Amino acid sequence: MSRLRYWHPVLCARDLPQDRPVAVRVASRNLVVFRTSGGLGALDDQCVHRRLKLSVGKVVGDRLRCAYHGWSFSRDGRGESPGTPKLHACIKSYACAEAFGAIWVRERDAEQPLPDLVKPGWAFCGTVINRVKAPLPLLLDNFAEVEHTVTAHPQFGIDLARANQATLEIETTAETFTVRNRGPSKPPPLATRIMAWTWAGDEFHSDYTFRFDPPRSAVSHYWINRRTGRERMSKYFLYHYFVPVDADQSMVVTFGYLQTRWPGLGWMARHMGWFVRRKIKSTIDEDAWLLENLADYNPSLEGMKLSRFDKVLGLLRERLALVYGE
Ligand code: FES
Ligand SMILES: [Fe+2]
Repeated sequence: MSRLRYWHPVLCARDLPQDRPVAVRVASRNLVVFRTSGGLGALDDQCVHRRLKLSVGKVVGDRLRCAYHGWSFSRDGRGESPGTPKLHACIKSYACAEAFGAIWVRERDAEQPLPDLVKPGWAFCGTVINRVKAPLPLLLDNFAEVEHTVTAHPQFGIDLARANQATLEIETTAETFTVRNRGPSKPPPLATRIMAWTWAGDEFHSDYTFRFDPPRSAVSHYWINRRTGRERMSKYFLYHYFVPVDADQSMVVTFGYLQTRWPGLGWMARHMGWFVRRKIKSTIDEDAWLLENLADYNPSLEGMKLSRFDKVLGLLRERLALVYGE
């Protein structure tokens, strides 16, 4: 089953210049993506002639030209050789699109429409990519539980000393599973404190729904004032796309949103987007550091001593197996 039958974000749109192709590795395939005057293209990153990487080639007009002998390819993979014009030299091409600050690819003959990530009432803060040295199931494990927030993530999470009071509810449907976590908040640093106006004694909430077309989660983080039962001033929402690079590496592509009762949401999004993106990047790098330091990359759960927060790990593997046969 091809992993690329669904749209996968593979690159930040700002990292794909107008005149230079870029190599991306996704689902163990090497692709080249490029912009031409006519639109975006994605091809296998290997010239059919003598196998030079097309990503070291050049965009000329509406075609990508190989740097070795000048053969060139259209966005749908039709090749032409200047030296042997009658030669038929096609290369595999992919559907490629730009949306929400990312470049997306999928198989050409798949049917899925581009995801709609518009969130009315929320300010879109931008797209962030983190590279993680861990296979997809272990990456998903990290994003499926909040127990690690007692030690990782100074900006948010459950207080280590009162972690036994944290609760979680799990709800499943045929396509999704949702986990709702709540527990005593750790004291967050000043920036989070000011942005969310959260204070000691608050209850931290982290709710997420996973889907698998492709693997992704929709996450919200917020704080509740226990005395009034009301949400604090700001909350975060994130779409994480978990992109397999190969058997050993993955990427997290995050689309970040902010909702706040502070006046001037539009102003905040325009001026604070960089700050939210930087926080997202450094927060996921904290997860990446944990994953880089696993002693064993075998995704099997056998032999692990699992906690009450880990109930979803088995569920994750079941759902991944349904979609990807792994
Ligand atoms: S290897 Fe690409 S043109 Fe020869
Ligand atoms: Fe984390």
